[in-house]
Amino acid sequence: MKRIKINGSEIAYRDVGAGQPIVFLHAFPLNQSMWDEQVTAFTPNHRVITFDWRGFGESEIGSSDLTMPLFADDLAELLGELQIDRAAICGLSMGGYAALAFHRKYSHLINALILCDTRAAADTEEAKRGRYEMADLARSDGTAAIADRMIPRLLGETTLQSSPSIADRIRKMIESASVEGIAKALIGMAQREDSTDLLPLISCPTLIIAGNEDKLTPPNEAEKMKQHIKTSELTIITAAGHLSNIEQTVMFNQAIGKFLSQL
Ligand code: MLT
Repeated sequence: MKRIKINGSEIAYRDVGAGQPIVFLHAFPLNQSMWDEQVTAFTPNHRVITFDWRGFGESEIGSSDLTMPLFADDLAELLGELQIDRAAICGLSMGGYAALAFHRKYSHLINALILCDTRAAADTEEAKRGRYEMADLARSDGTAAIADRMIPRLLGETTLQSSPSIADRIRKMIESASVEGIAKALIGMAQREDSTDLLPLISCPTLIIAGNEDKLTPPNEAEKMKQHIKTSELTIITAAGHLSNIEQTVMFNQAIGKFLSQL
């Protein structure tokens, strides 16, 4: 794992392969290892960058609030340090929220967008309340309680019934996250801006991906984004929940591979 100081925090990242760069932005409350299969699949033809958001994985949390605009600033700074002028940006769920925040500030650094299992809308008041409660739960009961709460929501029914090893992998990722990273990211997501207004302004090729069993950001959220982004296409991944890249790796990688080959 490489390390670099970005906006005052040490960020752990991978930068492997060569060719057209693609950056993968991880979901909450996971870390960059969720992209291991994509790193393997895309390194032969691409320069692949993954990193842990500050407060997750091996990246330092720093003292700032974990907001989507700060995540966007960190990504811009990282690309600058790596001397990457433009990249394909692929974000899943919270990674997608951050990708949209990144587009708002730094669209000139993006040549293609991949928005997976995510939504453009801000949280409802009820969803915000749920996030503040979960932040309290993380601080009072620790990461195992967050894993218990999140795993049934993150994974689709097919995976929950037939792939216990995936649930184990996700549990390890969540349990190794830091309590403060989890709590601060929940607050950052609750406070995030609505990105719906941004969608008609997106003019780069955009692939939207959704698992048909996704309970957290159901496929109708993907349909809505598809309607508003003129340059977008939508792929629904069957038998996948929210973590479509892990639950149905082959279909997920095929969709991205086809999209990238057309750029
Ligand atoms: C994620 O997968 O990043 C989160 O579940 C997103 C969310 O809670 O909105």
